[in-house]
Amino acid sequence: MPYLIANWKMNLPPEGIDAYMATVGAAEPGDVTIVVCPPFPFLRTLGACGAGVCVGAQNCSDQQSGAFTGEVAPSMLRRSGADFVILGHSERRTLFHENDALIARKLSLALETGLTPVLCIGEDLRVRDSGQVSRFLADQIKVAAVDALASGEKVILAYEPIWAIGTGRNASGAMVAETLVEIRAALERFWPAAHARAPILYGGSVTPDNVDDLVEHGTIDGFLVGGASLDARKFLAIHAGLRRG
Ligand code: PGA
Repeated sequence: MPYLIANWKMNLPPEGIDAYMATVGAAEPGDVTIVVCPPFPFLRTLGACGAGVCVGAQNCSDQQSGAFTGEVAPSMLRRSGADFVILGHSERRTLFHENDALIARKLSLALETGLTPVLCIGEDLRVRDSGQVSRFLADQIKVAAVDALASGEKVILAYEPIWAIGTGRNASGAMVAETLVEIRAALERFWPAAHARAPILYGGSVTPDNVDDLVEHGTIDGFLVGGASLDARKFLAIHAGLRRG
């Protein structure tokens, strides 16, 4: 089942949340699961829209409670109506210095709390240009092989090459298809068998203009969309492309 996930980052849709959710909620979902990830304070607002759209958070703490000023626990996200949580986004890794160990702890706690993690992995341009993509992604998957995966609870992977995020420079469909095969092989090698078929999404400057090229190869299980997800009409055009694929 494909997923289409909106990552609003620290933005709100210019048309307003109610109008946005009414438009997106009116879409014929088909077999696509639509998830919208707003900033924390708007999780409940989205859930209350009753638009038939799932709600996700963009991050969570690796702790359930305590003296961690500014953090939000996975259990609090659940209470606020979130069913999904994005983890290890490259902006968290680079701007907020999140390392693999921290992300692995968040992954464990999210799984234990009943959230579906959307684990982001992806290389920067230096790694891509040095031909080390396969090894780099395999290492990211290996370090995320936490014990909690044994529960068999669903995990979604999002392949987001850092050089394609928010840059308008997207990976070609052929390049993504090739990389997804390598990610699948690493999952089969390093994660429990229950996750061998985990959905693998693509993210990085996905727009209505490149969605057809991306789905053409038939290996993508959906998209994690940043910039274009803030415009409900563009987001729905990507949704239509995913359904065509
Ligand atoms: P983008 O962001 O679509 O704006 O490149 C994707 C993401 O950061 O998840």
